[in-house]
Amino acid sequence: MLGCSSEALPPLIIIGGSEVSVLVSGQAGSRTLRHFLDIAALDAPTLRRILDMAARFKRAGRAGSRPLAGRALAMIFEKPSTRTRVSFEMAMRGLGGDVVMLSSREMQLGRGETIGDTARVLSRYVDAIMLRTDREAKLLELASCATVPVINGLTEKSHPCQVMADIMTFEEHRGPIAGQKIAWVGDGNNVAKSWIEAAARFRCSLRLACPPSRLPDADTISWARAQGTDILLTEDPVEAVADARCVMTDTWISMGDEDMAARQHAVLAPYQVNETLMAHAATDAIFMHCLPAHRDEEVSAGVIDGPQSVVFDEAENRLFVHQGILAWTLGG
Ligand code: CP
Ligand code: NVA
Repeated sequence: MLGCSSEALPPLIIIGGSEVSVLVSGQAGSRTLRHFLDIAALDAPTLRRILDMAARFKRAGRAGSRPLAGRALAMIFEKPSTRTRVSFEMAMRGLGGDVVMLSSREMQLGRGETIGDTARVLSRYVDAIMLRTDREAKLLELASCATVPVINGLTEKSHPCQVMADIMTFEEHRGPIAGQKIAWVGDGNNVAKSWIEAAARFRCSLRLACPPSRLPDADTISWARAQGTDILLTEDPVEAVADARCVMTDTWISMGDEDMAARQHAVLAPYQVNETLMAHAATDAIFMHCLPAHRDEEVSAGVIDGPQSVVFDEAENRLFVHQGILAWTLGG
């Protein structure tokens, strides 16, 4: 069962504005925590502030100050990771803080200890917790039971840290993203959902081309459109990329989708981002991909290794965006 059922009072999570307020019963009393759970949960000024801090940390490099000295981050991974794991560790260390890396398989969590108890115990040791999980409900339960900020390091539904780095990368290469046409081609997955939320917050025009069996989350599209966001959803990759300043895709087989691999390959084959498709985008369009990539599946080798690709800048920016997120969640 989800929720902090062992507390005398249930936790109250209010998502909206720039903070997620968590009312915890017992001696912790009522506290306001800066969780980073999703882009839609934060307002535009807060997201911009995180990006501004990320840019400042990038400019400062290794000579920068150590605002998180004496603070510690625990990271729990239920799924594999290269970028998120290493960039969060280097981000925290770069700001003077410490990290504890945890795999759920090696924790009591993997043998049935509850998320609530794990949250309450880790909150006594560390100042923030990052979770990569196979179920978003676990992230929400962790956030409701922890008495320190919780960061979403990817769920099956969203990947907000990635999309913050994507926005930073686009703006470094092509200037302010507001009003720009951004194209997503392929699987309507967790990264696509966070991009729909980002389109609403950063006021860009998002064109998504996805097969009917792999559409992005309908509620998120409705939410974004209700706020006046320009979202085009089509089955036609050419229509989506027409005049776009940025074309993006992601793996056809997300973590947890392995048993659907054959079907995914069949339905997504017409959605490969290749030189022919890129020719329909703006002449100065950039190509982004969160990585890991599969050359000649979702993207041709010529595009991802070609002059329009900024995928390694995008991966590098995870480090600085995570510094911005950590500085914000920990009150910097
Ligand atoms: N893009 C991304 O999150 O990569 P990892 O799975 O390697 O962390
Ligand atoms: N959609 C991918 C993103 C990996 C960073 C997945 O969930 O596996």
